[in-house]
Amino acid sequence: MNKATRKTVIAGNWKMNKTPAEGAELLTSMIPLVKDADCDVIACVPFVDLYAAQEATKGTNIKIGAENCHWAESGAFTGEISAQMLSAMGIEYVIIGHSERRQYFGETDVTVNKRVKAALKAGLTVILCVGEYLEQREQGVTAEVCAMQTKIALGGVTAEEMERIIIAYEPVWAIGTGLTATADQADEVCGIIRDVIAGLYNAEVAEATTIQYGGSMNDGNAEELLSKVNVDGGLIGGASLVAEKFAKIVSAASK
Ligand code: 13P
Repeated sequence: MNKATRKTVIAGNWKMNKTPAEGAELLTSMIPLVKDADCDVIACVPFVDLYAAQEATKGTNIKIGAENCHWAESGAFTGEISAQMLSAMGIEYVIIGHSERRQYFGETDVTVNKRVKAALKAGLTVILCVGEYLEQREQGVTAEVCAMQTKIALGGVTAEEMERIIIAYEPVWAIGTGLTATADQADEVCGIIRDVIAGLYNAEVAEATTIQYGGSMNDGNAEELLSKVNVDGGLIGGASLVAEKFAKIVSAASK
């Protein structure tokens, strides 16, 4: 298997943006622009937008995902949403371990692993985020940091379940900063993550796993990033909030 046979996935991460009505409007304008995509197209939206987003995209090629889920099925966790709740409403995807969750909400590698396992158990496909801080890159430990995050997050995940894991390499210093990893930097770390998966499972699983790049990917730089052998898609923040920009990234991925 090689890049040509791996699934290319372009996913938007809306973060804490868009009301349900605004979200539906954005998706409605995106639908005709991405309808011929030759890649998977996902919009990960705030919990309260999920229903409106599903309604707006019914019968289209845009799939809807959530931005997080809790590890318990139910219980006394005020303000949290379980993976079961998401799958019960027909949601297929969930982002887990985004650096903003790690940075601002006390998410650790261990809680990321718990959430990943809960999401898989509920039948969801996980977009698992890993990535280094600028200081870590400068200290030369990018490979170690990304390997550690990947290994801990995937603890207890079977080779079969890896079919429902997408990994997003998101260097923290490139998120929302306008700084993008060069295509070679993105390719190098996505390749390192692929080697880690080969070590945890085998070469076949590693070759089949979709590994995205995320961090200021936009309509201007997507084509070069996506041309790299180890970059199988993108997780897009800011540019996913503008239909035309997101659609151009989808087009670049469809070439
Ligand atoms: P930006 O594309 O806004 O840099 O965000 C990237 C990101 O965090 C996607 O999850």
